[in-house]
Amino acid sequence: MADPGLYPPFPYDAETATGFARTMFDHLDNGTTDMAPEVLEIDPRVYRDPELAARERAELFGYVPIVAAHGTELPKPNDYLTVQLPNNEVVLVRQRDGLVRGFVNTCRHRGARLVNEDSGNRRFFSCRYHGWSYGGDGSLRAIADEPTFGAMDKSCLGLKEVPVEERHGFVWAVDSAAPDRKIDVGEWLGPDFDASLGAMEMDRYHCHRVGDFDLEINWKVLMDAFLDGYHIAYAHTGTVAPYFHNNAQTWQPMGRHGRMVSARKSIDTIRGQDPATVDVNRHITVAHFLMPNMTVLRQPDHLEVLNFVPAPHTAVGTRMQMRILTREPATTDELTARWEKNWNILQAVLQDEDIVVNEGLQKAVSNADLGPLYLGRNEIANQHFHRWMAAALADPRHWG
Ligand code: FES
Ligand SMILES: [Fe+2]
Repeated sequence: MADPGLYPPFPYDAETATGFARTMFDHLDNGTTDMAPEVLEIDPRVYRDPELAARERAELFGYVPIVAAHGTELPKPNDYLTVQLPNNEVVLVRQRDGLVRGFVNTCRHRGARLVNEDSGNRRFFSCRYHGWSYGGDGSLRAIADEPTFGAMDKSCLGLKEVPVEERHGFVWAVDSAAPDRKIDVGEWLGPDFDASLGAMEMDRYHCHRVGDFDLEINWKVLMDAFLDGYHIAYAHTGTVAPYFHNNAQTWQPMGRHGRMVSARKSIDTIRGQDPATVDVNRHITVAHFLMPNMTVLRQPDHLEVLNFVPAPHTAVGTRMQMRILTREPATTDELTARWEKNWNILQAVLQDEDIVVNEGLQKAVSNADLGPLYLGRNEIANQHFHRWMAAALADPRHWG
């Protein structure tokens, strides 16, 4: 019997689990997958146009919540992290009251980068250029040699602040310090998707490891790579292809967002049984796709979380943030080895396969003469993403 601490219980109710089993059995028995009504044509400029990228940063990422960290990366008061978001580098600081606040990482004097470390624990932040110092609440506490600097109202010179909220274990931020910006993650997720994420109890998980990968690839190219279950058999022959069924997915849109279920080949050992009584947990991956830029892959014993953060100032740059979340911290060598093995597999899948293919794609979609591109009916989740992006930018601040 497996350690229950290692394998959290399947988070969904019996009806949902039965539905997952039934639809996956049906698809595999019939060689089918969930399909959109038609093929969707897309303009390759969505992957390379600098003006579109600037609009995405300003009109989308400047307004909507995205994940900036997992709460266990800054557990204690005065813990801080620097995080690159599409518009701003932000310092997240855990306050004494337990809440996390986020500040633009720029000294208000002459613009030095205030915090130069990735993470730490500090009660004050002193600027290395001229020694101005700020509290963990972002307030300007002291101007060095103040009588010689000239009279300034320090209460107006606190660090610029972006809206931050913790929910589902993650620290979310809206990447703008404009005074009219607010954050409401529950509203953003919508009731069904919020409940589906809530069922996974991600606030009870621990961030085992996080890695940043700076790539010369448009962020939507990478999001697309996770939304399609059609490439596994071709692009992932060196890693996971032998273990997963290709091109057999069930896609459930939930408002702006959606979840997709894929099957491991091990599901064949229970196919033919009653979907209502099988234990499907170990045989499927449930992926939650959060608009605009995040995916949470639920493996039976851990979570893989990917964020594709557009780089500032370019259409062709993404900081990919990869996290492995586990139910418990790795307290033994055995557990450490287990999660490191999973980290290495995920990294191989990405670096040796997805990224290689998509660096080539990014180069190729910059060719002058390539015509439109196509998302098949089977690429139903990609269609959802591209339709949603088009609608979001056509109707700014409504976002479907
Ligand atoms: S730029 Fe920070 S104190 Fe001068
Ligand atoms: Fe892939």
